[in-house]
Amino acid sequence: MNFAIVGCGFIAKKHAEAIKNIKNAKLYAVCDKIPELMREYVEEHGAESYTDFETMLQNPHIDIVNICTPSGSHAILSELAAKYKKHIIVEKPIAMTMEETDRIIHAATENNIKLAVVHPNRFRPVALKLKEIMDSGKLGKVSHALCIVNWNRGQHYYDQAPWRGTKAFDGGVLMNQAIHNLDLLLWYLGKPVEIMSMDATRLRDIEAEDVSTGIIRFETGILATVQASTTVYPRNYEESITIFGEKGTVKIGGTNALYFKDIIIEGISEEEALGTKESIEKNPWGTPGHQIILSDMMQAIKEDRQPVVTGEDGKTALSVVLNFYKSSEEKRLLTL
Ligand SMILES: NC(=O)c1ccc[n+]([C@@H]2O[C@H](COP(=O)([O-])OP(=O)(O)OC[C@H]3O[C@@H](n4cnc5c(N)ncnc54)[C@H](O)[C@@H]3O)[C@@H](O)[C@H]2O)c1
Repeated sequence: MNFAIVGCGFIAKKHAEAIKNIKNAKLYAVCDKIPELMREYVEEHGAESYTDFETMLQNPHIDIVNICTPSGSHAILSELAAKYKKHIIVEKPIAMTMEETDRIIHAATENNIKLAVVHPNRFRPVALKLKEIMDSGKLGKVSHALCIVNWNRGQHYYDQAPWRGTKAFDGGVLMNQAIHNLDLLLWYLGKPVEIMSMDATRLRDIEAEDVSTGIIRFETGILATVQASTTVYPRNYEESITIFGEKGTVKIGGTNALYFKDIIIEGISEEEALGTKESIEKNPWGTPGHQIILSDMMQAIKEDRQPVVTGEDGKTALSVVLNFYKSSEEKRLLTL
């Protein structure tokens, strides 16, 4: 199948690498407003290059379009791709507002094309194993969870491009970084019903937040605390999720949440827990999440089924971020 990437910046490299590693996949075309950024893809992949997205979409050989542009442009570009009947893989966040998200989902449904959102952290070996533990019920009734993203993105990160750190095109730590962790929490814990949050812009010169703390109550009654920041000195400090159940405590974490920090579960011996930890440590990144999502899209097209991370999944994660913002702005608890 033939892929085309729009937006040849930082994340496009992961998409191109994934395409290279998938059998029967080809990077057929690339599009960026800045011609120099396309050169490596033309030279390395033999890709066609376009500076105008709609002109690229008119190429009938393109099957799937990967949207890798600033988040605030995902909706308009996805709608256009759907109009030309291209299947869509859109980077996270799916869009910046619920209205934009509904437009994307509607365009995909109307034009009968597949839509996947890139939430790749689900496919880290440790995240998949934690999902297995959660689904097994071994932790018993879960009382609460703790989700931490204490990272560093210096001012130079935000100064790289004018869209970074803006409310319309990027958002802050929640929309850009912690949305991955919120997606995991929702995947593990189900439907959120109440949200309360506070955020602030403490150390970076940006419009959006660089620190956020919030609480989610899930339909099951589980409470989750979320603490996220990009202000930590001098580098990334911790990304973790801890689940506390009546029969177990499990923590995944590290500078990036790639490892089991604790597996303490009734009926599971220390040796068995150590074995699980060590098996993850052998290959903590596993197959890149981008590769799994792209290759799943090819399979979803062939089998005419939903992709593994759907537009609705992207919408749920976005809705939690937006409700965190709203709760913080309106200084009140929100019932979803
Ligand atoms: N899944 C992940 O782990 C992950 C990681 C980083 C970024 N992202 C997401 O990827 C997206 C892009 O982020 P980035 O860091 O690669 O940004 P970037 O600024 O490095 O690259 C964006 C590129 O898009 C191009 N562009 C913008 N509008 C365009 C248009 N209309 N037509 C053609 N080209 C256009 C720009 O010229 C730029 O080269 C964002 O939505 C971001 O949230 C996801």
